[in-house]
Amino acid sequence: MQTKSLWTESVPQTEFSALTNYFDVDVAIVGGGITGLTAAILLQRAGKHVAVIDNAQIAKGESGYTTAHLTQVLDNRYHQLISDFGEDQARLVAASKRAAIDCIEALTADYRIACGFEHVPGFLYSENDTAGDLAQEAEAMGKVKISAELLPAAPLPFKTKQAIRIDNQGQFHPRQYMLALAAEIVRKDGHIFEHTRVTHVEDGTPCRVEFDRGHITARHVIIAANVPVTNWLFLNTKISAYRTYALGAKLRTPLQPGLYWDTADPYHYIRTYRDPSEGDILIVGGEDHKTGTKEDTVTCFEKLELYARAHFDIGAVPYYWSGQIIKPLDGLPYIGLNSLSKHVYVSTGYNGNGMTFGTLGAMLLTDLILERPSEWAALYTATRLHPLASIGNFIAENKDVPLHMIGDRLAHGDVQTTDEIQPNEGKLISVEGHKVAAYRDAEGSLHACSAVCPHMGGIVHWNSAESSWDCPCHGSRFTAQGKMTNGPAVSDLKPVSVPEPAAAR
Ligand code: FES
Repeated sequence: MQTKSLWTESVPQTEFSALTNYFDVDVAIVGGGITGLTAAILLQRAGKHVAVIDNAQIAKGESGYTTAHLTQVLDNRYHQLISDFGEDQARLVAASKRAAIDCIEALTADYRIACGFEHVPGFLYSENDTAGDLAQEAEAMGKVKISAELLPAAPLPFKTKQAIRIDNQGQFHPRQYMLALAAEIVRKDGHIFEHTRVTHVEDGTPCRVEFDRGHITARHVIIAANVPVTNWLFLNTKISAYRTYALGAKLRTPLQPGLYWDTADPYHYIRTYRDPSEGDILIVGGEDHKTGTKEDTVTCFEKLELYARAHFDIGAVPYYWSGQIIKPLDGLPYIGLNSLSKHVYVSTGYNGNGMTFGTLGAMLLTDLILERPSEWAALYTATRLHPLASIGNFIAENKDVPLHMIGDRLAHGDVQTTDEIQPNEGKLISVEGHKVAAYRDAEGSLHACSAVCPHMGGIVHWNSAESSWDCPCHGSRFTAQGKMTNGPAVSDLKPVSVPEPAAAR
């Protein structure tokens, strides 16, 4: 199916050149999404010379495939956080998320960015009998100083059992915001490179970052690529990749502006966007599943649309998109120095709150690089392992990895021969004991690659809605022809040649 994001369609494409030679800067930032661009501008304000380098186009990785809820609400709830981390730490989380929303508002005002930033309330609501849970969460929000109130229902056009209204959250057009930051970075002599793939990062004095066609030396390096893009095993066992789905539909009956989340599992998340030419657009997200574990992902969009039509008065659906959520073991992102590093920083594990936690990551890493005191540094440190909050999730999220690395290699292919593969379809096939990811394009040509993920050897699986090969181990993704689009892998699937039966040719 044809997928397109509301955010990438409504703003012009960027055209920054690729890095082709050598550069020396104070801070090299790998990844031109919300974290990378915000860090670049904050560091520039402190007098640092920066370069942002993106594998593809800036603001068009995961930051272009968000629903852009700016919020203090947590996916795994404040009452859980208080129980795992204690009330003082939970209060710091709430305050740091507030500071991130305020930072976006301040940058929007400072640079007069026309991105539709506005304060809206958030509503966490239940359609079922989970009223007790919401009362508990409302009480926890009070303890961490979030302005919130328990209501008998959410202001939605269908019946809800109970809701929490959270005041003073935010929403904006993420790409209008990020591209304005990028223009400012360049205007102040910062560098932005696109279509430049990192291949190696070496910590040192200076650090050296190798790219496919050049390199950069820098006093500090920030890896802001949604996931750590080198083979740092330890961090990769603490994060898990999930696909999430969103649609943008023409809204016929207006809805109170706000951010909405239900308590279903997986849950739905909702907001509106006023498009200057198309009018009100309803954005609905949900249907999350672990990356690489579902082939028929078209049904995820179908279910989402069924849900949206059953609950709201909508017309045509011009936008469908999907994004990658990185879940941390204990519910909080990992932000800080990478393990065993002195000058290489990471920021990952935003748990579905990419715009808010991404901004927070940029703020915190700026403080660390400038050696400014930060009351959040210890809380979010990337090297932490919080046993109480992590052990159950560690087992649950990693138990299938050996199966995908070893078991999937031994399993039968999806088909016996390539002539069983239809146009626009990808299938795994066994060739002389090796797993091959074979895709037949619309014209009938076959594209075959090794199905072995270059990150750590998982076997990739077909994703039908997005025509991609997705790895279930740590979430690396590749185009139908094998080109890497999502790390932690940093190289493509290896092309192989597969003989075609005469009938298929
Ligand atoms: Fe780690 Fe594929 S992403 S093995």
